[in-house]
Amino acid sequence: PPQCHLVPESHRYDCYPERSVVVTQELCESRGCCFIETLPAVEGKRGVPWCFYPPNFPSYVVQSLNQTALGMTGLLVRREKAYYPKDIQVLRMDVEFQTNTRLRIKITDAAKPRYEVPLEVPRVMKRAENPIYSLEFSQDPFGVLLRRQGTGTVLLNTTVAPLIFADQFLQISTTLPSRFLYGLGEHRSTLLHSLDWNTLTLWARDVAPTESFNLYGAHPFYLLMEEGGDAHGVFLLNSNAMEVALQPAPGLTWRTIGGVLDFYIFLGPDPNMVIQQYQEVIGFPAMPPLWALGFHLCRWGYGSSNETWQTARAMRNFQIPQDAQWNDIDYMDGYRDFTFDPQKFASLPSLVEDLHKHGQHYVMILDPGISSTSPHGSYWPFDEGLRRGLFLNTTQGQPLIGQVWPGYTAFPDFSNMDTHRWWLENLQRFHTHVPFDGLWIDMNEPSNFMDGSEEGCPPGELDSPPYTPAVLGNSLSAKTVCASAKQNASVHYNLHNLYGLKEAEATASALIQIRGKRPFVISRSTFPSQGRYSGHWLGDNRSQWKDMYYSIPGMLSFSLFGIPLVGADICGFSGSTSEELCTRWMQLGAFYPFSRNHNTQNEKAQDPTAFSPSARTAMKDVLLTRYSLLPFLYTLFHRAHLQGETVARPLFFEFPWDVATYGLDRQFLWGQSLLVTPVLEPGADSVLGYFPQGVWYDFYTGSSVNSSGEMLKLSAPLDHLNLHLREGSILPTQKPGITSKATRGNPLRLIVALSPRATAWGDLFWDDGESLDTFEQGNYSYLVFNATEVGHGGEGRRVSGTPRA
Ligand code: GLC
Repeated sequence: PPQCHLVPESHRYDCYPERSVVVTQELCESRGCCFIETLPAVEGKRGVPWCFYPPNFPSYVVQSLNQTALGMTGLLVRREKAYYPKDIQVLRMDVEFQTNTRLRIKITDAAKPRYEVPLEVPRVMKRAENPIYSLEFSQDPFGVLLRRQGTGTVLLNTTVAPLIFADQFLQISTTLPSRFLYGLGEHRSTLLHSLDWNTLTLWARDVAPTESFNLYGAHPFYLLMEEGGDAHGVFLLNSNAMEVALQPAPGLTWRTIGGVLDFYIFLGPDPNMVIQQYQEVIGFPAMPPLWALGFHLCRWGYGSSNETWQTARAMRNFQIPQDAQWNDIDYMDGYRDFTFDPQKFASLPSLVEDLHKHGQHYVMILDPGISSTSPHGSYWPFDEGLRRGLFLNTTQGQPLIGQVWPGYTAFPDFSNMDTHRWWLENLQRFHTHVPFDGLWIDMNEPSNFMDGSEEGCPPGELDSPPYTPAVLGNSLSAKTVCASAKQNASVHYNLHNLYGLKEAEATASALIQIRGKRPFVISRSTFPSQGRYSGHWLGDNRSQWKDMYYSIPGMLSFSLFGIPLVGADICGFSGSTSEELCTRWMQLGAFYPFSRNHNTQNEKAQDPTAFSPSARTAMKDVLLTRYSLLPFLYTLFHRAHLQGETVARPLFFEFPWDVATYGLDRQFLWGQSLLVTPVLEPGADSVLGYFPQGVWYDFYTGSSVNSSGEMLKLSAPLDHLNLHLREGSILPTQKPGITSKATRGNPLRLIVALSPRATAWGDLFWDDGESLDTFEQGNYSYLVFNATEVGHGGEGRRVSGTPRA
């Protein structure tokens, strides 16, 4: 039809996203869509869709719209069937103006309930009085138009393509007010996403981070910077396999294969506020114990507990800071959870005792897969899990069996509270032998070395849905369990992306019950609200410079997702690192909120003691710098816990009016004021860094530079990490010891970075570092520091501290 040619290429919304077929004109027109061939923008990548919706494509029509106490409710009706099976003819839409900066738009089947994510969300009692947004609807075709009132900017306009709501295919498209879009994890990419026909898939998957692959976690949330520096965020509360297709219009399409369309929109107006508002819905992150912020050392392939012990001893001998020693699966007997190798790890209990004696902590790995082949009566975790019916079942009602490190395994169903009890009992038993302090939960996508199960997956619409998003392996069950697997709360099809979250919940709660202290959990798979239970590491990176760079956008994205306790494997996991790479990486990694050096098996050691004296010293120095900043870092974590502030922070959060900061992901801030500019390339003795307008002080020398918003070339010899302080800030610091415990006892010191007006501000949150709910119970000190210039009569400058509480 002639109207097809009127649609500009960038505004063509894909009518045939299926990758399993080559779209022909015939197929396309059978859907009533436009077919125009174009050349792909990039070889091998899907560019402009050849098959796209014409402007008048049938969609839903608003049949009724009524005011409610909180907003509006309406019925949407579709007169013509869509082209996916079981499309739903009548939808119900509920709009809630929840706060002045937040609204919720939920669309679901009007006739019967559908699966919804079991996430507790805030209950709102009254309608926002002065919302900073306005909402309009297009009646035919149905569409939402959301505007920011102050600027008139259209944040959402969903009339650009039809709404489709079939049982297993839900799709809605919108224009975007700019191309500055962030979030939508978990992916390996630049911080700022490309909108050049870029499709991001969300389906938890165990795979070494690779561009364009769906990775370990699923975060259907984006933040967008509007022209002029305002920001907003959109969260789709949906846990099904999905795709988010980005295009240069700029436009975005959500495409999910189950659940409901439940959108939360946050109007900021600045990016910090957007993230805070997002976390008001998903929950603020847990306050970590202080020791979690120390340096962690791990590797896969410590041959024994004695070898592990030797490493920790060598670290002590060189006086290199370390708070926690970790063990990977090597410690287990036959790679089975809740066991330890009676020969190679015979001294494990003594090692843990020794760590405790030195004010250090012990963390070990746990995988969800429970070995199913030990002789009956010899392995309580499986026998008991089976007896209580706690594993994922096949459609036939038998435990689903896959394969992980120990061989054949069953998978605990953490959507069942009885499983949490059993998990706790297992941990309690183990803790009486090995008094661990924290837990590392891995392989919880859940990962399976087989596709689906030992028997594959049964035919049916869950394992073979009408539409499969662009997941790696082209099948939902690729390297995980069958989507049809039965769980207590629903089918795995719906719960897959929640597996790591539910396991983290069980694990954090067990730690609290066992130790009576703040839990420390690091999880590979994550979902919104994960920060309440765990931190995250970015998975199996490689010992390459490129991977070191990608850790920055990775870390910053998790700041956006409300999981501030995040870091990557320092020096790289797979492949062999070099002394130079590892030195640079230790410098960057000393500023990951969660700082852990981890290595794969059969690679040479890469802990600081494994290198030459000069490299070792550089690593030690930067760790000492981290430890000197623990009071500051701890305070930032408190602010994250209390009100959802970010810890590691993109520059544009602090300088939203400066568009030059929008794409920066080779530098980052701690809080508002500490700028980290790492070297990310080999052979460098200098580094380029952007300095937003204002005065910046060199952290080590105090020398200042007054930037007008410039790229500056900084000297960066191998033993130097560039750190700068922003004018107007006060940082609480402490003389560093080699553990956080030793550091705690040392004198505190303030670093005051005055503004040109001779003012500065800072704060300190301090408590015992490990008890539960210290803030909630008032067992803490909170100090605010203000520097002001007192008169001009020579009285000089003054810093005053005000204790609060
Ligand atoms: C997974 C983890 C990795 C760990 C390995 C062995 O690959 O991501 O960190 O070392 O399993 O447990």
